[in-house]
Amino acid sequence: MQVLLAEEYGFCFGVERAVEMVEGALAEGANVRTLGPLIHNTQEIERLESKGVSTIDAPGEVSGGLTAVIRAHGVTPEVQRELEERADRVIDATCPFVTKVQKLAERAAREGRDVVVVGNPDHPEMIGVVGYAPGHSHVVRDASEVASLPPLHAPLVVSQTTLKLKTFLDAADAVRAKADSEPQIVNTICSATRDRQDAARSLAGHVDAFYVIGGKHSSNSLKLLSVCKEQCAKSFLIETPDEINAEDLAGAARVGVTAGASTPNWLIEQVVARLRGMGQ
Ligand code: F3S
Repeated sequence: MQVLLAEEYGFCFGVERAVEMVEGALAEGANVRTLGPLIHNTQEIERLESKGVSTIDAPGEVSGGLTAVIRAHGVTPEVQRELEERADRVIDATCPFVTKVQKLAERAAREGRDVVVVGNPDHPEMIGVVGYAPGHSHVVRDASEVASLPPLHAPLVVSQTTLKLKTFLDAADAVRAKADSEPQIVNTICSATRDRQDAARSLAGHVDAFYVIGGKHSSNSLKLLSVCKEQCAKSFLIETPDEINAEDLAGAARVGVTAGASTPNWLIEQVVARLRGMGQ
């Protein structure tokens, strides 16, 4: 049985960078607290917890002697300031792609322009971005919500990094009708999610079974699973190698593997090793 990895899988750039920054702080002996779970993966969180990292829910839980970590989603400037006041040290692991959206929003607001952010208003990344354009930002989930916006002045339109391109383009188009001048439309969608889906899709048609490694509630892993299922009926979402069922692999000559953007490499290696062992 051949085990084939998709061309793109696992940690995206921003998540890998955040984990490396935390590892670096631990190596220096820091007492680390992350504001919110660093990553949406139970096994990786448990591994970090075993090294002394714990999660806090609010900046108020930080005190002297602690190193506070801002995760890849980023935070509002107020939250960042509060962390800086309370913690010994703040590690800003905001993904540079998210920082770019924050800076664009900040500059447009400073120029007195409106900022339309397309995405989920409850997502931490969006809350952070909106915090950079207070009084100027409007969050819409899609084009249908643009109709209820007030008239917009020289708007900037940006997107949540994980949004679908069509949702963004439709919303940006709808903004034109509300704007007093041509909107500045900046596609800030990150390609990581899309790249993983495209790679899984192109492998799924060539294998007899497909394993997606990722959290059972992770939307990006569930989406990968549905992409694989379109071409490979025997596609499974697993969190650990223990969930591999030998019966599912009966008669399989080729097995595909991919992983969500929050799945660490060590977990992927364990799954691949188990599959290769079973194949022999
Ligand atoms: Fe950054 Fe894209 Fe990952 S925005 S955190 S590299 S999904």
